Amino acid sequence: MTERVAVVGSANVDLVVDVSRQPHGGETVLGGEVRRSPGGKGANQAVAAALAGGVETTFLGAFGPDDGADFLLASLTKAGVRTDLVSRVDSATGTAFIMVSPDGENSIVVAPGANSLLSLASAQLERIAAADVVLAQLEIPLEAVTAAAAARRSGARMVLNAAPSRPLPDLELDVLVVNEHEAADLAGTTGTPEELARILQQRAPAVVITLGAAGCVVAEQEIVHLPGFQVSSVDTTGAGDTFCGVLAAALAEGRPLREAAERAGAAAALAVTRPGAQSAVPTVAEVAEFATGGNAR
Ligand code: RIB
Ligand code: NA
Repeated sequence: MTERVAVVGSANVDLVVDVSRQPHGGETVLGGEVRRSPGGKGANQAVAAALAGGVETTFLGAFGPDDGADFLLASLTKAGVRTDLVSRVDSATGTAFIMVSPDGENSIVVAPGANSLLSLASAQLERIAAADVVLAQLEIPLEAVTAAAAARRSGARMVLNAAPSRPLPDLELDVLVVNEHEAADLAGTTGTPEELARILQQRAPAVVITLGAAGCVVAEQEIVHLPGFQVSSVDTTGAGDTFCGVLAAALAEGRPLREAAERAGAAAALAVTRPGAQSAVPTVAEVAEFATGGNAR
C-alpha cells in the first residue's frame, strides 16, 4: 500500500533580496540582486514531503493564468509532487516579497492573489479522503482548511501548520504545528513553550512548537524537548515548511510523532544552511547523512 500525503495550501513566487539589515518604517535600504525562487508555505511543504521519500504527495492549491504558475508547477513536479488536481483561477499567482539579512533572518510580505481564491471541488476532496495525512497552513481561505479537515477519512490525520498567525475557527485537528510566536498568538498568552503547548492541546491532541535553533517541543501525553542542531544560518526562509512536510511524510509512514519530529528537525536544520525555500529542501539521503554525521546539537 502506498502512503499518501495531501497538502492543501499556498504557492508563491518568492522575490528575494539580500539586505544588510531589515529596514525600519519609513526607511529605504539598498539591497542586492533580486532572485526569483519557488515558494509558498503549501508548495514548500509538499516539496519537503515528496523529497522525504516513499510517500505519494499531492499538492492542492490555486494558480493564476501566468508564467508564475508554470514556474511553481515545474518545481513541484521536479520534486515528484502530484499536481494533476490544482485549481486555475482568474487572479495572479501568489507572490512573496522577501528580505533576507546576513544572519539568515527574513521579513516576508505575501500578496496572496490566486491563493485567496482556493475553494476545494469534489475531485480535490476525494484526493484528500484518500490521504493518510492531510497537511494545511493558513495562507489560503479558512473555508478550504475547514473543508480539508472535514474531508479526511477516519483514521487519517489532519496536521495544521497555523502559519501565518490568524484567528482559527473550530476545527478537528490531530496535530498542530506552530512556532513560538504563533503559539503565543493562538494561546492568547505568553509562557514557556511547554506551557503554551499544554494550552494548545485544547485545540489538538498533539502539538509541536518549533523553536528555531533550539529544536522543538513535542506534546502528546508527555511533553519532550528535542534539541536543535548547531548550523550556520544562511536563509531560514521555508525551514518551518521543510519541518512540516517531512513531519507529515513520516507520520504517513506510520512513525510515532516524536520520531517524525526528529527527522523533521534534522531536515529543517539542513534547509537553514541553504538559500531559498523549495531550493533548500534536502533529500532523504542528505537528511540521513546529516543526522548520523555527528552534527552538534
Ligand atoms: O514559509 C516561507 C514561505 O512563506 C515563503 O516561501 C513565502 O512564499 C511565504 O509563503
Ligand atoms: Na533556506
